[in-house]
Amino acid sequence: MLAHGDYEAFQAFLEDACGIVLGAGKEYLVSSRLGGLMRDYGIATVGELLNQLRSGKNPRLKTGIIDAMTTNETFWFRDMSHFRMLQELICPEIKARSGCSIRIWSAACSYGQEPYNLSMVVQDYQRANPGALSGGVDVVATDISSTVLTEAKKGIYCGMSSSRGLSLEQQNRYFKVHGDCLEVRPEIRQRVSFRELNLTKGYEMMGRFDVIFCRNVLIYFSSEQKRDIINRMARALNPGGYLFLGSTESLSAHTDRFQMVSQMGGIAYRLR
Ligand SMILES: C[S@@+](CC[C@H](N)C(=O)[O-])C[C@H]1O[C@@H](n2cnc3c(N)ncnc32)[C@H](O)[C@@H]1O
Repeated sequence: MLAHGDYEAFQAFLEDACGIVLGAGKEYLVSSRLGGLMRDYGIATVGELLNQLRSGKNPRLKTGIIDAMTTNETFWFRDMSHFRMLQELICPEIKARSGCSIRIWSAACSYGQEPYNLSMVVQDYQRANPGALSGGVDVVATDISSTVLTEAKKGIYCGMSSSRGLSLEQQNRYFKVHGDCLEVRPEIRQRVSFRELNLTKGYEMMGRFDVIFCRNVLIYFSSEQKRDIINRMARALNPGGYLFLGSTESLSAHTDRFQMVSQMGGIAYRLR
């Protein structure tokens, strides 16, 4: 499946397409993740796959490869401390500072749990503080994968793992429950808009945000890509805005534009 030179050519394609850096010796990962897709397209070798990509005849092939090579694992209220910081520290700060509205970006939203959680948390804050953020709550959710976005937009989660991270009380508060499916309530969904976006390309058109969640995606990128993304995110934040990363990710080596804020068991980075 992988002839001499194909692995290196595939590494270069993947880094250029979505920023993901495949280290040396990951041939098994390419074979196991692309096997099904290549069978579906009747492609026997990675060399042939690359030739088809270069020909540009089938744009869906590229999407399929990105889907197969990215990790979409996510669950409800992942790193709960981040949501606590949003509710107890950032929402009150924004209410006191600029008053009436908040814009939040979930920058690698996968199947949608993260942006819907952001909407839930701000809703809880507004219910506890009537009149707060009455100018609007806007949650923009983006991902490179059109497949996960299609599912995320539906807001319906079925099966054994659909409630991972949720208590029974939260299931009833934020969802309509239909058998083993959970449907996000309309008032939660209406604050969230989804769009396709590759973090390694430009995103000046996204506008400015008060908060960015960019969690569990930077780990796949090279140091240069990370630095570049973080600097562009700094430009997309309002003064004093906050950036959240995954719990195993850190900013320190990449920029000095942020000040680390450690509270409620979590870490956020505040734009200086
Ligand atoms: C592990 S999930 C993280 C989901 C969520 N943020 C969380 O922490 O639970 C990583 C997501 O990053 C997306 N992704 C990978 N490369 C990307 C890129 N270059 N631009 C935007 N999204 C990307 C994947 O499609 C996947 O949905």
